[in-house]
Amino acid sequence: MTKRSVVIGVGHYLPERVVPNAEFEKTLDTSDEWIRSRSGIERRHFAAEDESTSDLATHAAQAALADAGIEADDIDAIILATSTADLTFPSAATMVQARLGMTTGFAFDVQAVCAGFIYALSNANAMILSGQAKRVMVIGAETFSRIMDWTDRSTCVLFGDGAGALILEGQEGSGTAQDRGILAVDLNSDGRYKDLLYVDGGVSTGTSGYLRMQGNQVFRHAVEKLAKTAETALERAGLGADDLDWIVPHQANIRIIQGTARKMGLSMDKVVVTVQDHGNTSAASIPLALSVGKARGQIKQGDLVVTEAIGGGLAWGAVVLRW
Ligand code: ACO
Repeated sequence: MTKRSVVIGVGHYLPERVVPNAEFEKTLDTSDEWIRSRSGIERRHFAAEDESTSDLATHAAQAALADAGIEADDIDAIILATSTADLTFPSAATMVQARLGMTTGFAFDVQAVCAGFIYALSNANAMILSGQAKRVMVIGAETFSRIMDWTDRSTCVLFGDGAGALILEGQEGSGTAQDRGILAVDLNSDGRYKDLLYVDGGVSTGTSGYLRMQGNQVFRHAVEKLAKTAETALERAGLGADDLDWIVPHQANIRIIQGTARKMGLSMDKVVVTVQDHGNTSAASIPLALSVGKARGQIKQGDLVVTEAIGGGLAWGAVVLRW
């Protein structure tokens, strides 16, 4: 018998305010047509002034608990992927823990920008396989609207706010690729590329700063590295792209998503796409897409899914799992 980390619940939350591309035409030299054709984004959600990352995360966590049919006390750990935690410390994860009324177990944040959810899943899987935890809530939550330079048209039209959550549970599998749960993981980072995508604030500046990005450079790395990490993870699971039911990619740009699918030899009808409605929600984009994909009836129990992301660092990776 082999232990596997199996998804037993999923949920998401999007702030109420929806901002269509046309809204940016009022303040910037941009157009709905440019944003749609260069990124695939049509609208995004922005958090209300009094809504923080931990608020969004708590709503998503509650939705995942309801989906799993369990209580917060049934969870051993919360791992929250975010680059926009409410405060420098304590972690947003401990804030969610308190809001859920959980007084046992442990909670911490993971920061790997847009790849954060992949890193968090990998951490959760390792803790389950080592016996440190039986059930882990893995959340991706962001309020990137708080780190936008609203005068920079090359970044502020691309991002949105939101949260998604998965609950993983240790279950016995047969040790084959037919098992439900996480089958393989691939993580990478290369700090030489730190200047391609960063926030120009933090404790060294005494400000929270704004996102800066050399978009076309990130784009170039993205298609090549995403296809490779997905293929590496599939190979580790003893599988190939032909075995996949779904790719659930990080939702940054439809052209990156299409380019990655093409490189892997897969058609777009095997890809869960939400970028048109959410924009780039960084670490929240994958759990949001998994939750929406399930709600749409795309992802079903037993389906083989690869999920992949790249972001600031650069940091990137992929997880292969059977839903
Ligand atoms: N409206 C109109 N014109 C614009 C806009 C805008 N909103 N933004 C940029 N432009 C202009 C530029 O100024 C440039 O004009 P110029 O040629 O006169 O200088 C022109 O459009 C082309 O700019 P590029 O940056 O070369 O455009 P590109 O086709 O590469 O698309 C984009 C830009 C959408 C940012 C794309 O590069 C991209 O998606 N990159 C990847 C971003 C990403 O995936 N990030 C991932 C991780 S995010 C994270 O980790 C937080």
